[in-house]
Amino acid sequence: STRMIVTIDGPAGAGKSSIAREVAAELGYAFLDTGAMYRAITLGAMRRGIPWNDVDALVRYAQEARLSWNEDRIDLDDEDVSSEIRTPEVTANIRYIADPPEIRDCLTMQQRRIAEGRDLVTEGRDQGTEVFPEAECKVFLTASPEERARRRQQQLIAEGKQVTFEEILIAQNQRDLEDRMRPVGRLRAALDAVVIQTDGMNSQQVKQSVLDSVRSCV
Ligand code: C5P
Repeated sequence: STRMIVTIDGPAGAGKSSIAREVAAELGYAFLDTGAMYRAITLGAMRRGIPWNDVDALVRYAQEARLSWNEDRIDLDDEDVSSEIRTPEVTANIRYIADPPEIRDCLTMQQRRIAEGRDLVTEGRDQGTEVFPEAECKVFLTASPEERARRRQQQLIAEGKQVTFEEILIAQNQRDLEDRMRPVGRLRAALDAVVIQTDGMNSQQVKQSVLDSVRSCV
């Protein structure tokens, strides 16, 4: 049987992870969160104290680190780092790992290997453009900066954390800029992606709309 690849790309805070996970479950496909891979390498480089300006050492580290992904869990050298990769410190340093093209190549190869022989919903920034340009079905999930920051704030409030809307928006704008400007693998919609603008939609409606567009191509 021929395998199906569904890519879901978009900016931070567009709700890609939860939607991609639910869509994968609905279709019975595997699910891959590629941001978790960039996060895990960032965490490992921080732990080793590799200087962020030593790109050669960062590339070497990315090539030797052993990542393994299993649905909701990511292991770095056999240690479950799934929660530790979500800290603001990791997020703040991620560009040092996501920018160098050699590190992106290394993670791109691993993502393609994970996809071998299976149906997959994969989520990130460059999945439809760089990693799986031949994917059968591509979605670009987006929302205005204010809408994404509002959702993020609600999520943080639910977790009992106090952050102002302004703080969230500033950090998010910074990450948007970094993600859109990097020379390779930058955030953009593939020409053949279905763009879903989710302002004013609830998560149920977003999920339904992604499922509709996926079902029209699978
Ligand atoms: O999706 P998430 O917020 O976990 O991704 C963290 C960061 O990893 C992104 O802001 C981006 O800089 C980087 N990333 C990337 N390419 C991907 C996925 C994530 O450069 N495919």
